[in-house]
Amino acid sequence: MNAPSTSLSLSPRVTVIGAGKVGSTLTQRVVEKNLADVVLLDIVEGLPQGIALDLTQAQGLELHNKKIIGTNDFADTAESDVVVITAGLPRKPGMSREDLLQTNAKIVLAAAKEAIAFSPKAILMLVTNPLDVLTYLAWKATGLPPHRVIGMAGVLDSRRLQTFIALELGVLAADIQAMVLGGHGDLMVPLPRYSTVSGIPITELMDEQTIAKLVDRTRNGGAEIVKLLKTGGAYFAPASSTCLMVEAILHNQSRLLPAAAYLDGQYGLHDIFIGVPCRLGATGVESVLELQLTEAEKNALHTSAESVRENIKMALASLNMS
Ligand code: NAI
Ligand code: 2OP
Repeated sequence: MNAPSTSLSLSPRVTVIGAGKVGSTLTQRVVEKNLADVVLLDIVEGLPQGIALDLTQAQGLELHNKKIIGTNDFADTAESDVVVITAGLPRKPGMSREDLLQTNAKIVLAAAKEAIAFSPKAILMLVTNPLDVLTYLAWKATGLPPHRVIGMAGVLDSRRLQTFIALELGVLAADIQAMVLGGHGDLMVPLPRYSTVSGIPITELMDEQTIAKLVDRTRNGGAEIVKLLKTGGAYFAPASSTCLMVEAILHNQSRLLPAAAYLDGQYGLHDIFIGVPCRLGATGVESVLELQLTEAEKNALHTSAESVRENIKMALASLNMS
C-alpha cells in the first residue's frame, strides 16, 4: 500500500500554526463543520501528526470529508486560503498577556513570514497573545496589505459578555448580541449600550451595578479561566470564536464582527491594530464600522489603544524593527 499522501483535495485550505490547545481544537471545529481541509503545523515533532491522525479517525463518526495533515514543515502549508497563528506560550497564573510579548513575538514573526511565503494570497489571522501587538508585528513583518491581517479577540470577548448576560438574566445566549471593543487586555471596552437581548439594550434590563459586574467579569474572562485551570488558558471558546471568523472568510459572509483591524484614522486612531467592529469576508477586513461613541467610551478606547501602542513600541525596539 502507498504511504498516505500529504496533498489535499480541492476544498479550501486552512493552515493552523500551533497544535496546542487552541490550534488543535480549532482544527477540530473547522473540519467537523466541513469548512476546509486543515494543515496543522507545530514545532514539536509528532504532535501535529498525532492530532491529525486522531482527528482523521473521527471523520466517519463526525460525518465530514475534510482532510487533516499534521506537519513540522511549512512547505506542506502551501496555497492556504487562511493562515491562523496560535503558536506561542499561553499565560500562567498571575501573568499578563503582555508578559508573553518577548517570547511570542519571535515565534509569531518567524511563523507569519514563513507561512505567507508559501501562501502569498492567504488571509492571516492572529490568535497568539498579546493579540493586538502581535497582529501589528505580523502585519509589519509580512508586508501584507492591512485588510488581509486580522486578530481574533473581540468575538471571544463579546461572547463572554453574551454568556454573562445570559447567565444573569436566565435567557438564551443566542438571543443576545454583545459588543466589546479595544485591545484584548484588562483595558478592553465592553459596550453595554450596544449590547442587546432580542434587540432590547441591556441598559433597560439591568441596573448599573449589575452591568458593571458583568463588564468586570468580561474584562477578566481569560484570567478567570487561567486561574481555574492553573496551567494554560481557555481554548474551547477561543477556538469557536476563531472558527466563526474563518467561516466568515471562507464563505464570504461579510459578517459584522469585532476584531483587531488596522486603523488609519477611524476612531481618531492611526497606525494600530485594535478591536473594532468590522466586516469580514473573502478579502479579509472589508471595512471598519465607526460607532458613535460617548466621550467616556471614546476615552476608554483611546486608553486601551495607548497601552497597545506602548507595547508595539517596546516590541519594535527590542526586535530592531522600525
Ligand atoms: P499551547 O501551549 O497549548 O499551544 C501552543 C503551541 O504552540 C504548542 O503546541 C507549541 O509547541 C507551539 N509552538 C511553540 N513555538 C512554535 C513555533 N515556533 N512554531 C510552531 N509551533 C510552535 O497554548 P494555547 O492554549 O493553544 O494558546 C496559544 C496562544 O493563543 C497563547 O499565546 C494564548 O495566550 C493565545 N490565546 C489567545 C486568545 C485570544 O483571544 N486571542 C484566546 C486563547 C488563547
Ligand atoms: C483569553 O482571553 C488567554 O487571551 C486568552 O482567554
